[in-house]
Amino acid sequence: MQQHIDAIRESCLQELEKASTAAAVEAVRVSFLGRKGPVQVLMKDLRDVPAEQRPQVGKEINALRDLLESRCDEVLERLRSAEAQHQIAGESIDVSLPGRRRYRGCQHIVTKMMDDIIDVLVAMGFSIQDGPEIETDYYNFEALNFPKDHPARDMQDTFYVAPDVLLRTHTSNVQVRVMETTKPPIRIIAPGRCYRNEAVSARHHVFFHQVEAIYIDKNVSFSQLLSTLDEFLQHIFGRDVVTRYRPSYFPFVEPGMEVDIRCSLCHGKGCTMCKGSGWLEVLGAGMVHPDVLRNGGIDPEVYSGFAWGLGVERFANLKYYINDLRLYWDNDIRFLKQFQSV
Ligand code: PHE
Repeated sequence: MQQHIDAIRESCLQELEKASTAAAVEAVRVSFLGRKGPVQVLMKDLRDVPAEQRPQVGKEINALRDLLESRCDEVLERLRSAEAQHQIAGESIDVSLPGRRRYRGCQHIVTKMMDDIIDVLVAMGFSIQDGPEIETDYYNFEALNFPKDHPARDMQDTFYVAPDVLLRTHTSNVQVRVMETTKPPIRIIAPGRCYRNEAVSARHHVFFHQVEAIYIDKNVSFSQLLSTLDEFLQHIFGRDVVTRYRPSYFPFVEPGMEVDIRCSLCHGKGCTMCKGSGWLEVLGAGMVHPDVLRNGGIDPEVYSGFAWGLGVERFANLKYYINDLRLYWDNDIRFLKQFQSV
């Protein structure tokens, strides 16, 4: 009897080994464990086994049945999962592959700086005004107190398109334009691109961006200009920014000044970024010159105003510690990408 059990086990296991499909496994199962299979026959033969051996032999037959059942299940499981793998491999999209990382684009850092400046100023009550980049000599110079032979014109090397038409050298060209069309109170900013005929270097470029601000109303005072600038610069550079106001000359403001902030890199100790001075110039500003108000059709006896013009690239230099203007426009993706999370 024992030999018989062993023989059935061996032959069933051999058959299972040969089975290469689920159907073949099922066929082995039926032929060995089915109603007419050898295991059932063994059960019947149990009757003829002497009574004292019967419990032991019965156990062995049960064990054989359980073993063969579980082997059939195992092989079936293995075949099914292999079949599933095969099916996946046959499909054109392998959903089990890890995804390919996509390159995430980002705003140009100068655009981002410009937007940040605009956001702060709009929140402070300024509205946005557009102005032309191709401008007449009148709005860029003449109306701003730069007569034809005025030496101050040399401060700004100009690209001329025609004798009286040029690429604006600053956003101040918007000043008289807005005065001509708007009754005070005027409270606008004019962001945009400007051009100067410079040799391109780390510090100069043929184009750059400015944000002009003008506020004209009754009783606008110089101290309002100072407090507005302090507030604005704190929003951009942080609450602990230190400002310094230096008298300076621009034909269209009186008094005029240049505004510095304490060097953010060395905190005033002196370093290469601030060229040892501890200060960094950030913008030009002043009280709108009475002649300019008059050119815009506004009575300087009734109204006064302040204006400033800032360089966006300069702000970005200071905020992100960039020391070469050319980097902005080389379009080297390795440079631009650094500001993805800014
Ligand atoms: N337009 C000046 C420049 O480009 C800056 C400025 C604007 C100064 C407004 C005073 C008032 O340098």
